[in-house]
Amino acid sequence: MAYRYPDSHVFYRKLGRDFPRIVRGDGCYLYDENGKRYLDAVGGAYVANLGHSNPEIADALARQARSFGYLSGTAFTHGPVEELAAELAATLPGDLDKLYFLSSGSEAVEAALKLARQYWVESGKPGKHKIIALAPGYHGNTLLALSASAREHYKTMFREWLVDVHRVPASYPYRCRCRGQDPQCPVCSGAVLEDAIERLGSDTVAAFIAEPVGGSSTGASTPRPEYFHRIREICDRHRVLFIADEILCGAGRTGTWWSIEPYGVAPDIMTLGKGISGGYAPLSAVAAPERILDAIAGGSGDFLHAQTFSHHPVARSATSSGTSWSSVAPSSAWCCTSGWRRSRRCRTSVTCAVAGCSPASSSSRTRRPGRRSRAPRGSRRRSRTPRSRRGSPCGPTSVTPTASTATSCWSRRRSSSPKARSTKSWHCWRAPCRTR
Ligand SMILES: Cc1ncc(COP(=O)(O)O)c(C=O)c1O
Repeated sequence: MAYRYPDSHVFYRKLGRDFPRIVRGDGCYLYDENGKRYLDAVGGAYVANLGHSNPEIADALARQARSFGYLSGTAFTHGPVEELAAELAATLPGDLDKLYFLSSGSEAVEAALKLARQYWVESGKPGKHKIIALAPGYHGNTLLALSASAREHYKTMFREWLVDVHRVPASYPYRCRCRGQDPQCPVCSGAVLEDAIERLGSDTVAAFIAEPVGGSSTGASTPRPEYFHRIREICDRHRVLFIADEILCGAGRTGTWWSIEPYGVAPDIMTLGKGISGGYAPLSAVAAPERILDAIAGGSGDFLHAQTFSHHPVARSATSSGTSWSSVAPSSAWCCTSGWRRSRRCRTSVTCAVAGCSPASSSSRTRRPGRRSRAPRGSRRRSRTPRSRRGSPCGPTSVTPTASTATSCWSRRRSSSPKARSTKSWHCWRAPCRTR
């Protein structure tokens, strides 16, 4: 049987291609029903960074499902959610301390933006409702998250349903005229944000949202080292909440726990997702400090974003019960940097899962200026060749990388303390070859 539309009952994400049917995973490899092996070097959509078929996580999920599978987050709490929140809080920057768990990154972005808005309403500033975001930038596919995203081809058919989000150009050294070299450049310095807030009126702006390291829109682009300092300063001066979207670039991908860390500033709200569960369960989160939640606790008492599957016990146990999140996440970054070096040695087109050192996906860092070839995502001309005939989705499968599988790295590398393993240097993703 061919796994393609319309031969199967599955409503596939792509209706014009065949899908290999995967029957098993092992570390960084996937195997289809014909025994063909795929190197899942990027961990799917930057998600499976703890390796496939990790036995400890599988056991933790089963253990939790045997105790109880679901309960309502409105009425109860439980061990997995309490433990994971405490572990994550210990790694978060600044005063970010409380975690609201959801399932997808888009949900986390929706919740973070709503939290910012509700905070201002409950703080007696109901006029603050506007959102500013970067272009290029991506924050998800549900309607508010899509409104905040600058991915025009996703929006075309739904434009009438989207809300106005104001956009400022992202610091994108690879495409900026100054190549990120000019500290006075209004884009690369962040000055464009201040102009936008002043134009809109700071009394109307609720939040500014940005990815600390550009993800799927700008291929691991990193702004100048002082960029987020300036952003923080501007947001403080105009009383605008700064939301860092770490859904793709966080969870150890860039060598620190969170990719904002090397900039030495803390956001007011942060979104987490993808790699925080290694993909074993859909899991995302919004992190916020008490100073924001206090306004709601002392007001309505309710964050208005209830979702049936929030704070789900089995999803949470993908990373907590029996498997310490803080012991596995840094090792995923180690695995990935090590994999990157080795993939280079193998001369493959393997894409590393570390956002900041991806040889294949990081156009910003891997091609020399002057040799830029690809237009930003969405404006590229589509190939006429169906993807199914363009080769394996995971690149060459004949390669035998010398890298250990993600699973074996995962079990070998355990950190003593999360803070100790954080490399607080902004150079961390500029020097991906450094081993730990
Ligand atoms: C930075 C960022 N934010 C949000 C999202 C949305 O996450 P999800 O696809 O889990 O809804 C993505 C997805 O790629 C992302 O890269």
